[in-house]
Amino acid sequence: MENKCKRAYITTPIYYVNDIPHIGHAYTTIICDTIARYSRLIGLETYFLTGTDEHGQKIEEAAKKRGKSAKQYADEISGYFKNLWDEFDISYDKFIRTTDESHKKGVQKAFDVMYKKGDIYKDMYEGHYCVSCESFFTQNQLIENEFCPDCGKTTSIVKEESYFFKLSKYEDRLLKWYEEKENCVLPKGKKNEVISFVKQGLRDLSVTRTSFDWGVKLPKSINDPKHVMYVWLDALLNYITALGYADDGELMKFWPATVQVVGKDILRFHAIYWPAFLMSLDLPLPKHIAAHGWWTRNGEKMSKSKGNVVDPREVANAYGLENFRYFMLREVPFGQDGDFSQKALVDRINSDLSNDLGNLVNRVLGMSGKYFKFTVNSKDVLKYHKKELKECEEIIDSLQENIFEMQLNRYLEGLWKVLSIANQSIAIYEPWKKMKEEKDEEAMALVALIANLLAKISVLLYPVMPKTSLKIATVFGFDIDNTTYKKYIENNELLDEIILEKLPPLFPKIEKMLMTSPEPKVEPKKEKEKIENDGIITIEQFFQTKLKIGTVIEAKEIEGSDKLLILQVDLNEEKPRQIVAGIKQFYSPKNLLNTQICVVSNLKPARIFSKKSEGMLLAVKDKDTLTLIRPEKDVSNGSCVG
Ligand code: MSP
Repeated sequence: MENKCKRAYITTPIYYVNDIPHIGHAYTTIICDTIARYSRLIGLETYFLTGTDEHGQKIEEAAKKRGKSAKQYADEISGYFKNLWDEFDISYDKFIRTTDESHKKGVQKAFDVMYKKGDIYKDMYEGHYCVSCESFFTQNQLIENEFCPDCGKTTSIVKEESYFFKLSKYEDRLLKWYEEKENCVLPKGKKNEVISFVKQGLRDLSVTRTSFDWGVKLPKSINDPKHVMYVWLDALLNYITALGYADDGELMKFWPATVQVVGKDILRFHAIYWPAFLMSLDLPLPKHIAAHGWWTRNGEKMSKSKGNVVDPREVANAYGLENFRYFMLREVPFGQDGDFSQKALVDRINSDLSNDLGNLVNRVLGMSGKYFKFTVNSKDVLKYHKKELKECEEIIDSLQENIFEMQLNRYLEGLWKVLSIANQSIAIYEPWKKMKEEKDEEAMALVALIANLLAKISVLLYPVMPKTSLKIATVFGFDIDNTTYKKYIENNELLDEIILEKLPPLFPKIEKMLMTSPEPKVEPKKEKEKIENDGIITIEQFFQTKLKIGTVIEAKEIEGSDKLLILQVDLNEEKPRQIVAGIKQFYSPKNLLNTQICVVSNLKPARIFSKKSEGMLLAVKDKDTLTLIRPEKDVSNGSCVG
């Protein structure tokens, strides 16, 4: 995110109303809320948009199944999203619905502009359509001639008259954009995938449908009533219709967007189609399109049919909304997938929040209360603790960059480094000894150092944990806003002489798991075998996993992926197994050839990067390295481990 301009426009994707919100949706929204709050804190005029995507075949079908009209159904689910974000105190400025009249008008205007420019033409479309992804595919993009390369579901054949957008015309300009604007698509690895997709050649995009009705009609000027707009054209335009594109509204001053956060599954639409549409409309391109990874359960994508969906409301009710926000942003580096588990969440709360942060607040209150009747005076901090203070200020100075590159986990790690310096300082300077030795001035300087570091932390933690941060700030007698941001962070002013306000413990330790339902559903007959103690399984459960040894007989890179290799592994079966593995950064294809590896052989096949993967290999991750698990000496291919 760039901070040179005085404004920030932050957007979430708009959520499909075919399903109720889960933690994946909450994640996208919480990231954006954090960035929006940060932007306001540092003084940018900020506009934060979220909303719902309500047209298209998928929604029409979902409504039909439930015996409702599409609009009735959309109202209901859109309401769920809005209520949840309100309950979660998401600081959005507008909640757009694609069924809003002003949106439909803006979409029609955009279509008209593109059409008049000669970027839209009429032809016949013949190809395959995945309703779940609302995406078109050619025959040779499909998996086994039938399945969607993105979600693996069955596609249907579509042959209908359609208007096409000249996407191919924008290929070179898109490539130039990626080249010139280094951070236009984040993270960089994902940007490379986009570039190689575009380099393979872009086909013109079908942007209208005639076989169903639930969509925005074409502008009257075109007079072709049997067409409705393709849902992705309709949906992407929400980012400008929300600003009043239809009537050149005043809010258009917020365009171009500062950052548009999306999940990795919809990056292609945002990093290719969307900028091409904008080029056609002669509008500037967003500064950053940032793609995050997925939240999974036991490594699997969440879905209703698998019964492994986690309800964000339930997590927040059990563990606290702000603890949940902290966990999501801290646990996973932006762009990577993260596996949700209650244990990981509880560990974060107990260790980072309760031990590192909560205890420090208690200790400063305790020390100041015991030795100085709760007063804190900063006058000698620089005399005794210049080194610690400067070190912390330097860490803090570097944090802004993390936010601007969407590295919210690094941002939080930086704050925790400051906390650790504060905690260590107490251990090093032992204020209780200073008091015994009647060195009250030194003891006060230490207490004031901690108070000042906590004051800074409270300001910078505000975008992630607003209410908690405000509580910490009250201890030191200030409110968190742009004025105090300038005072304590930009100008590094120290706290005035204050009397600390007491505060009950912020993060009581959590002794047991507090949610029951979000664990992945266990089939009733297997209930007896359910894992009773965290992490303990029976021998039968272990042997449900079939581990086999095989030899790599072919290993290749996958174009466009900087992480994956595709292997053919001889497991002494009819034909070699194809395995897609994320080991490219650690092993070259040449070094893998003719070596033996250990494979989970009864894993359900999956699509990774549009390639079928029929197993998983075993490896150990240790710090930044990855080491494959192999037999000590050669064994026959297909031998079982165990
Ligand atoms: N309607 C489109 C977006 C149109 S934007 C012009 C859409 N909607 S969605 O409801 O399916 O997904 C919305 C967002 O939620 C996407 O960014 C998607 O990546 C994110 N998530 C959905 N499931 C997710 C996880 N399991 N984990 C993390 N985020 C995921 O796509």
